[in-house]
Amino acid sequence: MTESQTTERLAADAAGYARAAALWAAGRLVAFPTETVYGLGADAASDRAVAAIFAAKERPAFNPLIVHVPDRAATEALVHWTDDAEALAGAFWPGPLTLVLPLRDRAPVSKLVTAGLDTLAVRMPAHPVAQALLGAFGRPVAAPSANRSGRISPTRAAHVLPGLDGRIAAVVDGGAAEVGLESTIVGLAGTPTLLRPGGLPGEALEAALGRPLARRAEAAAISAPGQTASHYAPRAALRLDARDFRPGEARLGFGRVACDLNLSAAGDLHEAAAALFAHLHALDASGAATIAVSPIPERGLGVAINDRLRRAAAPRD
Ligand code: TXA
Ligand code: MG
Repeated sequence: MTESQTTERLAADAAGYARAAALWAAGRLVAFPTETVYGLGADAASDRAVAAIFAAKERPAFNPLIVHVPDRAATEALVHWTDDAEALAGAFWPGPLTLVLPLRDRAPVSKLVTAGLDTLAVRMPAHPVAQALLGAFGRPVAAPSANRSGRISPTRAAHVLPGLDGRIAAVVDGGAAEVGLESTIVGLAGTPTLLRPGGLPGEALEAALGRPLARRAEAAAISAPGQTASHYAPRAALRLDARDFRPGEARLGFGRVACDLNLSAAGDLHEAAAALFAHLHALDASGAATIAVSPIPERGLGVAINDRLRRAAAPRD
């Protein structure tokens, strides 16, 4: 379904929610805000609708998707719940946390969502617009970030349109995403493992779990777009850990530095996370050949920020 279509701009109000839910029920694609980034949603039970996500994003079909649910009860038909899931969901849902759990037999989820794995990634977003949309639809929604595969994730409706206008049925405008980084993904099908750093720091998860999380080995078998080396790529080249800036570079600062855009002049990692993708979009649009980025401390949300920056800087295919 990548043939040209008119992409509706929907407001975050009752009429917008009803329209989005009707489009999902008809197997169409609707981009919507979550507190992390904008998602590109489709009916998770429909092979045709889920296939359309991969086509619109030009995403390699072997990458599994996260299923979004309105409440914890909605996970019962989908996955086998565990004590660790209870501890983490109890502490952090709704919020920027995705749990990978054993898939139930006969779960109403297209095989394209799991890419044939026997696990499923589930998430209950906190954004009130996401909650209203999931409530209006009443069934699980599969949603990757609403960007073309390999590009920067969108934290506003205006970021969604350059890549996906004419390729999706609608986008619901819910303003800027507050967290600004994708959810933290924890694997709970075996040893609890941090599969992707994200909007919830690993330290907080370990505190709730009462023990450390295993770290995903770089060579681990699960293929994930957010885990491939080159991802979140702006058009410009990226130079990281820039302690000074060179002539002609677009300067992305952190802390008290002279720069074009600052992630957080106060050195606040939450503020930096929320600004990261929007600032990368803006500096990329300025046309500079290189974006130089100040060093970001490797703690708290800095772990996920540095993860995204390293992937954005990685050599491209
Ligand atoms: O914040 C977010 O997580 C956003 C919003 C829209 O919810 N979604 C998002 O989706 O970032 P996406 O598709 O860009 O990234 C999903 C990640 C991928 O790295 C994928 O491989 C991983 O989740 N994933 C999905 N199912 C998995 C599974 N069963 N086992 C391991 N990893 C899985
Ligand atoms: Mg993504």
